[in-house]
Amino acid sequence: MISNHHQSVMFKESIDALNLIPNGIYIDATFGRGGHSQGILDQLNDKAQLIAFDQDLSAIEYAKEKFNDPRLTLIHSPFAQMHTIINEMGLNGKINGILMDLGVSSPQLDNAQRGFSFNAEGPLDMRMDQTSGLSAAQWLQAANEEEIANVIYQFGDEKKSRHIATRIKKFQLEKPLETTLQLANLVSDVVRGQKKKHPATRTFQAIRIFINQELKQLSDTLEQSKNLLAPNGRLSIISFHSIEDRIVKRFIQKNSRQKSLPKGLPIANQALEKMPFKDLGKQSASKEEISHNKRSRSAILRVASRNS
Ligand SMILES: C[S@@+](CC[C@H](N)C(=O)[O-])C[C@H]1O[C@@H](n2cnc3c(N)ncnc32)[C@H](O)[C@@H]1O
Repeated sequence: MISNHHQSVMFKESIDALNLIPNGIYIDATFGRGGHSQGILDQLNDKAQLIAFDQDLSAIEYAKEKFNDPRLTLIHSPFAQMHTIINEMGLNGKINGILMDLGVSSPQLDNAQRGFSFNAEGPLDMRMDQTSGLSAAQWLQAANEEEIANVIYQFGDEKKSRHIATRIKKFQLEKPLETTLQLANLVSDVVRGQKKKHPATRTFQAIRIFINQELKQLSDTLEQSKNLLAPNGRLSIISFHSIEDRIVKRFIQKNSRQKSLPKGLPIANQALEKMPFKDLGKQSASKEEISHNKRSRSAILRVASRNS
């Protein structure tokens, strides 16, 4: 049986960071199995609203079955469609907080049929939204060697990216590359694993990021948050690898740093430019959390507040 359980990471810290107003309007951009959503709903009153996104239909189906809460609106969509959807709801500039808990959920990873795992045989799919786009197998078939190498290098930091791409194309001359273990074994022939890390970790991460356009989704949504958030509205974002975290960090820094002002002008004459956000810092998971949830090891929570 496939487990539907996902243990929410940095649960208390990420919800506290939203500084919840009991009757506020909030977005959970990554519903998953609704752990964070439930935590938010528990602190809101009956006038509040929570709009939850997930591009995985199974997350939305789970929510429909398990969550019967009139304050919750469920949206099956990539979160980068947020600005259009929230605009249509007439809520632009009225959102009091957005939570993003990035990446894949345990039910996605644990279900071999989804193709995210290099440890279990399944179709090489890797789409969070299986209702659209190319699966990893389809993309690997259509892309040329250089495109594959670039993705594996850029999104996986994999030094052997060229070798891996060559091996993939060689394999495909004989037969289609269709399963997770075919890819994992092929990568293992080229890359040596480090300590407890499977040799295919970086390759799988890279292809998954590319297939789901994860970095573009993230940077587009961060930009949109400027218009979506109400004054003092919060961004609370948990990322799981350095490429993702760098995007969040740079966005917050760029939008919260006071630009340097021309020297020599009296302060009173200087047009102080108001930045969109205040940087409220970052946190990692506690030792205690890491001891009982391995996945939280790499989590970084960044928080920012929309200036009024
Ligand atoms: C780490 S899980 C979230 C877990 C959730 N916070 C919980 O407590 O159960 C990430 C979820 O976000 C979804 N997701 C990731 N990227 C997305 C995107 N760009 N648009 C919509 N949903 C996305 C995934 O399908 C997955 O269900």
